[in-house]
Amino acid sequence: MKIREEAGIHVAIIMDGNGRWATRQGLSRVAGHRAGVAAVRRTVESAPDLGVRVLTIYAFSSDNWARPAQEVESIFWIIRAFLRLECERLRKNGVRLEVIGRRDRIPRALLREIENAEKATAMERTLHLRIAIDYSAQASIAEAVVAVQGIAGEVTAERMRSIITQRLTADCGDVDLLIRTGGEKRLSDYLLWESAYAELFFTDRMWPEFEGSDLVAAVYEFRHRERRFGAVPVLKASSMLVAETAQ
Ligand code: FPP
Repeated sequence: MKIREEAGIHVAIIMDGNGRWATRQGLSRVAGHRAGVAAVRRTVESAPDLGVRVLTIYAFSSDNWARPAQEVESIFWIIRAFLRLECERLRKNGVRLEVIGRRDRIPRALLREIENAEKATAMERTLHLRIAIDYSAQASIAEAVVAVQGIAGEVTAERMRSIITQRLTADCGDVDLLIRTGGEKRLSDYLLWESAYAELFFTDRMWPEFEGSDLVAAVYEFRHRERRFGAVPVLKASSMLVAETAQ
């Protein structure tokens, strides 16, 4: 069964549990992050057939700088290798890659790889894959406010709300479904503005264990939730979707 929404949905994922998964296997935490790459690949490959148009994954939060320097360096190294090795495959599969978050503190070699991958995939339209690196939702909202003040000066709260929404979501839309793996039920400063109306899905699965079938289950549950947007019950998420049997 293929599921498709007219415009496609925006799914955001907090990929949690790499460290615990690795520790349980008697491996180093870094081995957990490496295993997390395979889960990223599986998720990216499953997403388009499920009607996912935008996928935003949390690879490194601005709070993650507090981790030991060696773990931080390893995460950056792993992301850099992913971009270098997978860029061509992403492009062939129609994936447009974009990195969100601060760019002034990440290593130069990673930055170069990000810029290359963004350039190489800029025209692709099957899936918009956004990787959050050195990302903080509060910081992104604060930056948007400062930028708006620079352009528009003093504006009403209502106008400010609409301009910030435009700045943060013009290219990707609001988050429809936010998934967090690893058993915790927190938002961890992730896409706070963009997720104002998101459906939340928490799973005990550790990120390296996350399979295409887990994404199917999350999207399936999303389809069966009633989305009210503060109004009276009208639509189930599923009624916005078209289901078709795969050939
Ligand atoms: C959270 O698990 C995970 C991270 C902070 C890093 C996520 C990075 C990857 C999955 C690497 C691959 C990413 C890309 C974009 C290719 P944790 O270490 O906090 O786990 P724990 O809660 O069990 O300690």
